[in-house]
Amino acid sequence: MLTTLSIANYRSIMSLTLPLGSLNLITGPNGSGKSNLYKALRLLAKTASGGVVNSLAEEGGLHSTYWAGPEELTNAMKRGDVDIQGTQRKNVVRLKLGFASESFGYTISLGLPIPHQSAFTFDPEIKHECIFNGPAYRPATALVERKGNIVKIRHDRQWEVVTQHIPNFDSLFDAHADPSSAAEVFHVREMIRSWRFYDHFRTDAEAPARKPQLGTRTPVLHHDGRDLAAALQTIIEIGDRKALDTAIEDAFPGCRLRVVTTEDSRFSLEFYQKGLLRPLTGAELSDGTLRFILWIAALLTPRPPALMVLNEPETSLHPDLLPALARLIVHASRNSQIWVISHANRLINALNKHEECHWIELEKHLGQTEIKGQGILDTPSWHWPD
Ligand SMILES: Nc1ncnc2c1ncn2[C@@H]1O[C@H](COP(=O)(O)OP(=O)(O)OP(=O)(O)O)[C@@H](O)[C@H]1O
Ligand SMILES: [Mg+2]
Repeated sequence: MLTTLSIANYRSIMSLTLPLGSLNLITGPNGSGKSNLYKALRLLAKTASGGVVNSLAEEGGLHSTYWAGPEELTNAMKRGDVDIQGTQRKNVVRLKLGFASESFGYTISLGLPIPHQSAFTFDPEIKHECIFNGPAYRPATALVERKGNIVKIRHDRQWEVVTQHIPNFDSLFDAHADPSSAAEVFHVREMIRSWRFYDHFRTDAEAPARKPQLGTRTPVLHHDGRDLAAALQTIIEIGDRKALDTAIEDAFPGCRLRVVTTEDSRFSLEFYQKGLLRPLTGAELSDGTLRFILWIAALLTPRPPALMVLNEPETSLHPDLLPALARLIVHASRNSQIWVISHANRLINALNKHEECHWIELEKHLGQTEIKGQGILDTPSWHWPD
């Protein structure tokens, strides 16, 4: 489980350190930085699948994603005594992302390329990375450190330089995830790779989730929901079938869901509703019904990830369905750490009733995303290694 997430200089997040629980609910007004927080977490996840530099470049590079406010907001600026203005920059430009978990922590710093070294002048570079032990980085807890092109690994008290030539667009995980030589790197990479993000299920008329699909075992629903029928059948066969029936009954009393095999060996949905003489197929379900069934398949996965992030799961659901969705989310939070980013009052209220729910309310102050009511005492200790 992640215990702390920290971000610096990413879009509206000048500096934010969040304590995390098993079920985290992120809310806030339009423009407060919810999506920025979500994007930052996704970017962090890309470090483990070889895509962090490209993803940042696709978002517009550091020029667009870097905090557009001043390097430092002085007390006089905060009080409104002087205008917000840029001062002489003291530090180099660094976008920083990091987390601590119950086992290892990781930080990455991205910066601008050195001019004239390459034609790829818009690609950011990885300047620093560190894997550490425990709740926050300290020099004594560092296990693996990358500075520029040099990677060193600690064995007891000795540091061993394992390479001096790591390319500045490759992360530690691209270059040093051999479990026999760098177990920590492998472990952290696998942890990050298991994170799962759901933010856009397709439910339009042409959505693949509506069509019969190849019947292959699917313990993890695809992020656009294309393998819904196979994922549901996998839950029925090797997962929590009872929870699936309960979730359907909770959301659609008196209804039943079945997965049938078509003549050409494909899987198809059948949804039985009171009052109808035949079941409805996936193609005939309403957007909201299909979307709720997608959430069931995602949240009751027989292979729960370490972290599951749900971005605005209320989209196109009727408010009456939201308490049932909240119960499903709470159920899933027993097996995975969950992040929910939401706007919907009924979902927020239903999740907040649960004592495990850790509510993070974002607000924007002088252009900066902050956590409402966060004082120094509620801010976990955090140090960037560079
Ligand atoms: N580089 C940047 N520097 C500073 N602020 C930025 C930067 N890029 C975007 N922003 C700010 O981030 C805000 C958008 O944040 P975000 O999209 O996370 O909001 P949100 O909470 O998801 O809102 P909504 O509820 O409307 O989706 C905008 O107000 C924009 O001004
Ligand atoms: Mg948003």
